[in-house]
Amino acid sequence: MDTHNHHDVLIIGSGAAGLTLALSLAENAKVAVLSKGALNEGSTWFAQGGIAAVLDDEDSIEDHVADTMNAGAGLCHKDSVRFTVERSKAAIQWLIDQGVSFTKEHEGGGYHLTKEGGHSHRRIIHSADATGKAVHSTLIERVQSHPNINIYEHHIAVDLITEPDTATGQLRVSGAYIFNRPKDKVCVFQAKSVVLATGGASKVYLYSSNPDSASGDGIAMAWRAGCRIANMEFNQFHPTCLYHPKAGSFLMTEALRGEGAHLKLPNGDRFMHHFDERGELAPRDIVARAIDHEMKRLGSDSLFLDISHKSEEFIAEHFPTVKARCLEFGIDITREPIPVVPAAHYTCGGVVVNKNGETDLKNLYAIGETSFTGLHGANRMASNSLLECIVYAKSAAKNIAGALANIERPNAAPFWDESRVTDSDEDVVISHNWDEVRRFMWDYVGIVRTRKRLERATHRIKLLQKEIQEYYANYKVSNDLIELRNLAMAAELIIRSAMDRKESRGLHYSLDYPDQSPIARDTILVPTNFAAQTIFINN
Ligand code: FAD
Ligand code: SIN
Repeated sequence: MDTHNHHDVLIIGSGAAGLTLALSLAENAKVAVLSKGALNEGSTWFAQGGIAAVLDDEDSIEDHVADTMNAGAGLCHKDSVRFTVERSKAAIQWLIDQGVSFTKEHEGGGYHLTKEGGHSHRRIIHSADATGKAVHSTLIERVQSHPNINIYEHHIAVDLITEPDTATGQLRVSGAYIFNRPKDKVCVFQAKSVVLATGGASKVYLYSSNPDSASGDGIAMAWRAGCRIANMEFNQFHPTCLYHPKAGSFLMTEALRGEGAHLKLPNGDRFMHHFDERGELAPRDIVARAIDHEMKRLGSDSLFLDISHKSEEFIAEHFPTVKARCLEFGIDITREPIPVVPAAHYTCGGVVVNKNGETDLKNLYAIGETSFTGLHGANRMASNSLLECIVYAKSAAKNIAGALANIERPNAAPFWDESRVTDSDEDVVISHNWDEVRRFMWDYVGIVRTRKRLERATHRIKLLQKEIQEYYANYKVSNDLIELRNLAMAAELIIRSAMDRKESRGLHYSLDYPDQSPIARDTILVPTNFAAQTIFINN
């Protein structure tokens, strides 16, 4: 017999955002943390460069705010930027208090701060070149030993559950349908507050630095439930991922350039100064576009990143992970340049939230890469993401803790209805459509866009959406089907947003509209007929 699973707070996602929230709430609330796979299978684990924060006396909040706004190409919300940067020092202190070990200048000295694109000061605190692993492993250890936190690995949220709010008659979120992968069945999880901390959607592109979990699930779920989604056209491409047939898209951290690495053409010439006076340390959108331009101009499969002019000791101390990974593929970075290409890396848009992480729906929050806070504008500055995860998880925790006492326990939601579906008989439909979405997104909605390419993508996504919806209505859910449905939704939101933007700004570059409009505006998509989609799930 199936049961309803009740908690005070249901957190969907176990990255930096989800775990910070869980730890910040757990003294006063019974918390469930869900993870699609193992706890560490999100982008957080793979973060390399570090976390931006104002920690040096020579640096200032004003400068960090100005650099972020500058990288964001006029579209950052200044109040959100200030809100985040002002809390950066406290966020880092909280991580240190949890036990995160950051790299020091020397034994007993202060913390070593590195530099990345767009930053006018050294302000990136880091743990060598594996900051994500240091942060995530510490937070995982803390949640695993907390008596008020229940962890559910291999549990995949399918859709949010809503019910009418007795006081206002408006919809409020009261839980989610969760696919328990080991048991192969969908259960009901209910809570007074539900939080989407599901990371980004960069897997929508063929080449991505992200792990498979980044299929935009939280964004798609929020959209289907009735939340506004903003600025999805601004998907960030990291300029330098390792180019090797067997390497996947392993990141070559921007800190390499921060510490002096040069970008080079196949003939060994440097080129970035032709594109921007800041050279290799221009913001990411500019560097990625320059690399894309040079690769297309030369018909080259990759360009090169070279740090071999630095000493072996320096490289081994600062970049042990990158060095070891490259050696696995026969590349000795102390002696030779690294072949690199751009790859999809970060979703600047997402679920519209306020400074408490509150979405448009009552009792629903979104934090971390899933959310749109206004911090990143048209191009996220390097290492501002983990900072945003911690700062907004903290403010959401405060808001949720204050609200819980006044929220009624939700009514028991209907069980998941599988009466009209059967076992999938042709999984090839899922794998084929998965590949097709990612390929046409790369080809038609990539670093450089045109109206014609976007129209082609619109046509393709409409056909695919129809096929996927039919499949979803007729067959039992599986991990791959859930992800494909969300990936296609994220792709549609990106294409629609890109079609709406008739200018070039930050990460959105269109050959048909090469100029930046004098007026900066967000692209805000507003869902219609959401109630029907939420209530008649899987019918
Ligand atoms: P994630 O860490 O991605 O976690 C998402 C969680 O949601 C996972 O636990 C996943 O299992 C879960 N989930 C997703 N969908 C579902 C579902 N349907 N049901 C249940 N659970 C679900 N940023 C920086 O600031 N500095 C860096 O140095 C840096 N380096 C990076 C390097 C790489 C290679 C990558 C990929 C990103 C990097 N970033 C960096 C970006 C940053 O790591 C991410 O933006 C950040 O970690 C996102 O954290 P998050 O908690 O929002 O999501
Ligand atoms: C990197 O180390 O280059 C990634 C930093 C980021 O994405 O913020």
